[in-house]
Amino acid sequence: MEYNCVLKTILDRVSIRKFKYESIPLDIVQRIIEAGIRAPTAGGGEEWFFIIVLSEAKRRRIHELLKKAHILYAEKLLRRPLSRSRLEKWIKLMEEGQYLAPVYIAGYIDLRNPLYSNEYRELEELWAHQSIAAAFENMILAAWSMGLGSVWLGVPLLLEEEFNKVLEPPKGLKLAGIIALGYPDERPRPRKRKSLEEVSKII
Ligand SMILES: Cc1cc2nc3c(=O)[nH]c(=O)nc-3n(C[C@H](O)[C@H](O)[C@H](O)COP(=O)(O)O)c2cc1C
Repeated sequence: MEYNCVLKTILDRVSIRKFKYESIPLDIVQRIIEAGIRAPTAGGGEEWFFIIVLSEAKRRRIHELLKKAHILYAEKLLRRPLSRSRLEKWIKLMEEGQYLAPVYIAGYIDLRNPLYSNEYRELEELWAHQSIAAAFENMILAAWSMGLGSVWLGVPLLLEEEFNKVLEPPKGLKLAGIIALGYPDERPRPRKRKSLEEVSKII
């Protein structure tokens, strides 16, 4: 079967965590954000905000925090923590530049002007997170289609305040995640998925 272009991008994509030391033209980054905000958004609300990080000093701070957050993840979050030797290997990779990207895009939820009545605030927040997740995926796929790699980063939520100090979001916004973006400096093998039978049924 011939795949159309979108399907090929979806099927080829892998997360990239090691990037070339090469900046990305701003208009390309902006096209990626534009692809993001074409995503479906609950109630047409567009309750999202994106911070594009290009500053070298900020990127280095973010990289440091990503290392700290990933160590926290490995030592505290995982039910089966990584062995000391695996963790040390990971730390070494991070110290050698894993996760250091020429661009980070931080995504925030903006519920300052809610669409729905107060009793549905929780649902509105959930929908806002689902909407921004769709935007993240659009950006990741748009980037891949242009030869750029990325990884969606959830660990910043473990150190939200510290990341916010660096990212300086407008008051009242909530961090949803960060995308690290750059030209790939690795070619990871596609990560296996559960079979269709395991994760679906026909009724
Ligand atoms: C919500 C979310 C949070 C993630 N957080 C991280 C993260 O903090 N660090 C990381 O290295 N990868 C993170 N990832 C990437 C996943 O590890 C990756 O997508 C998964 O292992 C499958 O690999 P693939 O994207 O190459 O197919 C995250 C992905 C999602 C969807």
